[in-house]
Amino acid sequence: MSQPTAAPPLIRLEGVRKSFRLPNGEAFDAVRRTTLEVSEGDVFGLVGQSGAGKSTLLRLINLLERPDAGRVFVAGRELTALSRTELRAARQQIGMIFQQFNLVQNATVFDNVAFPLRIHGRHGRAEIDARVRECLDLVGLSEKVDSYPAQLSGGQKQRVAIARALAPRPQVLLCDEPTSALDSETTRALLQQLREINQKIGVTIVIVTHELPVVQALCRHVAILEKGQVVEQFAVDGPVASRKTVLGQEIDALVRQRSRETHQQQAAAPVQLRGVAHA
Ligand SMILES: Nc1ncnc2c1ncn2[C@@H]1O[C@H](COP(=O)(O)OP(=O)(O)OP(=O)(O)O)[C@@H](O)[C@H]1O
Ligand SMILES: [Mg+2]
Repeated sequence: MSQPTAAPPLIRLEGVRKSFRLPNGEAFDAVRRTTLEVSEGDVFGLVGQSGAGKSTLLRLINLLERPDAGRVFVAGRELTALSRTELRAARQQIGMIFQQFNLVQNATVFDNVAFPLRIHGRHGRAEIDARVRECLDLVGLSEKVDSYPAQLSGGQKQRVAIARALAPRPQVLLCDEPTSALDSETTRALLQQLREINQKIGVTIVIVTHELPVVQALCRHVAILEKGQVVEQFAVDGPVASRKTVLGQEIDALVRQRSRETHQQQAAAPVQLRGVAHA
């Protein structure tokens, strides 16, 4: 009998490197030679200090930044080998959301979400209409379809951005600090929403954040970046090994604290249930 083979990763960055030219003419290495794989359906966090290269690494996945060296594969295609037209089509597989939402201010919620469907001109009017409503429904914003971004809260704007990113049915959703502009309550709700979306439609999420509670609440895997390199990588809920980095240790401490709290709640629950049953 043949051995079952592991599914190939949905995303593979292979020896990618990116440097920027500084005003003084010197080159600055934002991402040093890095290889990273993300499995299909995963929620993968990229964390690190400001300037560690998180956003640059994220933008290498959809070639918003082109690597100076190395190759990028998404869903079995080598993006770094595609022509400009092919890349435009392949990018339909990769949605993205940002810290500042990046909505078009003078367009309604409907038109913002319809935008990625219209630019490709492959969808009819009725199809676009149905898909926009479906995506707004997914993020719980159906009633805001005719509003303008200025009439929405920060959390609602980010949900419109998620609906827009998901409209072309991407396999990957890239998130660059999606909760940094939101208060803690709105952050919690948005993380819950992202978790549900990952479970419901199976979209693979790669999220850049400097907030460790975001990793603890949402991510299944995490990579820690320092000075343009991945220095540590682990499964967030996996066995506690000795973590190399301070950030890794801090994430572990959060996960352990949360699992202790859940344990305590579970231990208390049967008493409450018996009380209810006998009332
Ligand atoms: N277009 C650019 N030109 C020059 N330098 C750049 C450019 N983009 C990024 N850098 C530099 O590359 C390094 C990594 O930037 P990057 O934005 O990836 O960091 P980050 O980890 O996302 O930081 P932050 O948490 O502050 O967003 C930084 O030192 C930054 O100044
Ligand atoms: Mg950044």
